[in-house]
Amino acid sequence: MKLGLNLSFAIKRWLGGDAMAHIVKNEIGCDIVQFTWDLVDPWWPAEQRDPIAREYAAAFRRAGITIESTFGGLASYTYNHFLAPTPELRALGKEHLKRAIDMTSEMGVRAAGMPFGSFSAADALDPVRRETIYKDAIGAYLDLTHHAKARGLDTLYIEPVPLATEFPSSAPDALRLMKDLNAHSAIPVRLMVDWGHALFTPLFGDKADMDYWMEICGDYIGAFHIQQSDGLLDRHWNFTRDGVITPDRLAEFWRRHRLSSQTYFMEIIYPFEETDEHVLADMKAAVALLRQAA
Ligand SMILES: [Fe+2]
Ligand SMILES: [Fe+2]
Repeated sequence: MKLGLNLSFAIKRWLGGDAMAHIVKNEIGCDIVQFTWDLVDPWWPAEQRDPIAREYAAAFRRAGITIESTFGGLASYTYNHFLAPTPELRALGKEHLKRAIDMTSEMGVRAAGMPFGSFSAADALDPVRRETIYKDAIGAYLDLTHHAKARGLDTLYIEPVPLATEFPSSAPDALRLMKDLNAHSAIPVRLMVDWGHALFTPLFGDKADMDYWMEICGDYIGAFHIQQSDGLLDRHWNFTRDGVITPDRLAEFWRRHRLSSQTYFMEIIYPFEETDEHVLADMKAAVALLRQAA
């Protein structure tokens, strides 16, 4: 298994490139990461934001850590972005991703991504509104594929989410979005499929199945988020806890589908009140379990 760390586990705890690189490389023993926008906010003014972002990238490079992509985290996920109810809110969602692309480019990283967006409660129930907003969103996103290319990125990622009020949630929805975007995009757009989202039983029932996802849209899956879950809520637990996603299951899936480049990014989110000592020890223990299974 090609294992990577989404840096969500570290937010508010280990700040600055050298501190984070030490935790990732020397403490946890990983050399591939996905940098979360919860560490550097794309909305910060670029003249202050970019030196901070570049400092992380430079320290990681010195430590021999590859940043494969940058990705929206908790803060970004709070907003409706491309599927918001008004043109003004959708334009701000587009500006958010544009700024994240700019920050990613400044870091010398070649890929960025986030979920696509959320409908309002009223729009989610209205098929005509959903379709109108979706078409608008496709146009806005395609514009940004040109911007991303001009800024030196080679891939954009979209993460499906486990809510019917958002898009895409199901595998067929994700396939439709991939086809609609990749037919006209300036650079490839790929899926970042989160195991805990895809295996969300209350929404997907017997389609809560990663083999089903591979069958429907496997060609577009560029990488995965992995996390432990009970399948009942989107838990983002670590693999030190029991749940439906065991390290053995991940390893078996990796082998059977002959995966090679589609990094498994651990996306572990701890309660803010959890101690730093526990977080670090728990991350080390979980990585050991995953490496054993691989
Ligand atoms: Fe995720
Ligand atoms: Fe999630």
